[in-house]
Amino acid sequence: MESPFKANILKGKVALITGGGSGIGFEISTQFGKHGASVAIMGRRKQVVDSAVANLQSLGISAAGFEGDVRKQEDAKRVLESAFKHFGKIDILVNGAAGNFLVSPEDLSPNGFRTVLDIDAVGTFTMCHEALPYLKKGGLGQSLSGGGIILNISATLHYTAAWYQINVAAAKAAVDAIGRNLALEWGTDYDIRVNGIAPGPISGTPGMSKLVPEEINSKAKDFMPLYKLGEKWDIAMAALYLASDAGKYINGTTLIVDGGLWLSRPRHLPKDEVKQVSRAVEKKSRNAPAGVPSSKL
Ligand code: HXC
Repeated sequence: MESPFKANILKGKVALITGGGSGIGFEISTQFGKHGASVAIMGRRKQVVDSAVANLQSLGISAAGFEGDVRKQEDAKRVLESAFKHFGKIDILVNGAAGNFLVSPEDLSPNGFRTVLDIDAVGTFTMCHEALPYLKKGGLGQSLSGGGIILNISATLHYTAAWYQINVAAAKAAVDAIGRNLALEWGTDYDIRVNGIAPGPISGTPGMSKLVPEEINSKAKDFMPLYKLGEKWDIAMAALYLASDAGKYINGTTLIVDGGLWLSRPRHLPKDEVKQVSRAVEKKSRNAPAGVPSSKL
């Protein structure tokens, strides 16, 4: 699908994208590249990173790949240093690396809980922490006129609760909190904007194939009336908006990109009945003697 944005909105910018080799991360890498940015991809699997970089380069995008695990502080440090050496600066950090599996709380070991927290929450903080010298106003490769941008990929499942996702819900709640706190502190002190994106179910992603088996997907409309799949493109467009000057006054928000799904609940009363029922209830209560609830009439 064609982008509605001008092709130069990220011209001259350098973005480092963790988990940028596949799924939503790769689409963000591609769209950032198509809109003028140079792209550094960080990921654990060398083959995935290498083939993503080759794909980006075949589109004429300036791209480089760096193997690393966001759970390891030394990897975070090394990858940021390498990306800086390669491109001369880092303007945008996208924290897209995440881990997930479906499990009920009673079957989840504390280590399984910790593993997802380590990747999503601690990994996000570690990357931000190590990226500060590059992103801050006047930092390495940055001018004195403004700082860089951080974008965290989050989720909506912790807004309410989610079956078999206790570790991910806890991790993404932490990611949102990290984003808001950094927006306050680093927005004030270093002119860095920090925002998040909370995607809904996005087709063709590792998350979808892991979390939503096919048969559930086809029945989802029964229990989630607003259910429909998004595209990786939808998330990448939101990322472009937040990372470009279009989002220059946006700091500390998490943009939900899920077609309203998190608001979804079954209709408890058919629409053609609601008027009738509502009027009848009003009429009853108007005719009731003072102090007697209409339910008692
Ligand atoms: C129960 C499990 C489990 C499972 C792992 N564990 N898988 N427990 N059910 N299916 C437990 C293990 O038993 C172990 O605990 C602990 O978790 C660590 O497991 P390892 O396999 O050693 O971890 P590791 O090799 O580091 O792999 C991490 C991973 C893996 C998260 C488990 O799935 C991974 O690498 N994922 C990255 C890719 C990914 O998941 N992408 C999807 C992102 S989707 P014990 O106690 O036995 O030692 C996404 C969408 C979010 O993020 C939004 C949702 C709406």
